[in-house]
Amino acid sequence: MTMFARFDPHARGTAAEVAVRVAGESDLTRCADLACRRNGGDQDLWYSRLAVDQADPERLLVVAEIDGTVVGHACAGWQHFDRHLAHNVKDGWYLTGVIVEPDSRRRGVGRHLVQARLDWLSTRADRAWYFASAQNEASLQLHREFGFSEVTRTFEVPGVTFTGGVGVLCVRAL
Ligand SMILES: CC(C)(COP(=O)(O)OP(=O)(O)OC[C@H]1O[C@@H](n2cnc3c(N)ncnc32)[C@H](O)[C@@H]1OP(=O)(O)O)[C@@H](O)C(=O)NCCC(=O)NCCS
Repeated sequence: MTMFARFDPHARGTAAEVAVRVAGESDLTRCADLACRRNGGDQDLWYSRLAVDQADPERLLVVAEIDGTVVGHACAGWQHFDRHLAHNVKDGWYLTGVIVEPDSRRRGVGRHLVQARLDWLSTRADRAWYFASAQNEASLQLHREFGFSEVTRTFEVPGVTFTGGVGVLCVRAL
């Protein structure tokens, strides 16, 4: 699995019947497998990270299914940044970590995963934040459709390095 989907505004898949639900403990192995295949690294480490998101009542881990199979997942929650290490980012409610398995892309799964998290956030917050590599045009386009707009490309999130070196910080009112 490569890091980013190839940006292609014209390629479209067949719209799928997508069901999004809150992830349970039994989804973690599948989610860790997707994260590991996309991001690399250790599957057990991904499992542990996702387990923290899944168990935290102040975070949301959702999975998307097509025909009963989990084909993607995504997370949202409050991000608190170390003020000595962070630069130009605010603590707040962020959409984080959306992944759709390559064979199921371009069928509306990503869109469902964004919508479900915005619905959840709208009961908690007045704005949602999101960041991505400037090279991740597919993700930026998906979020642009939901009204996210660019705030800055000059910022640092502790622990995050962007492929290509440049990230885009975006915000949207809820
Ligand atoms: C980004 C990602 C989550 C999108 O998931 P998806 O299920 O393919 O997205 P959708 O089918 O819901 O696409 C919705 C819209 O987003 C835009 N979009 C999504 N993928 C795109 C691509 N490869 N090229 C151009 N536009 C794209 C399009 O406007 C699309 O609408 P359309 O298909 O009607 O043209 C998926 O490509 C992925 O998992 N990428 C790897 C992980 C990643 O980069 N995550 C984001 C980290 S910030």
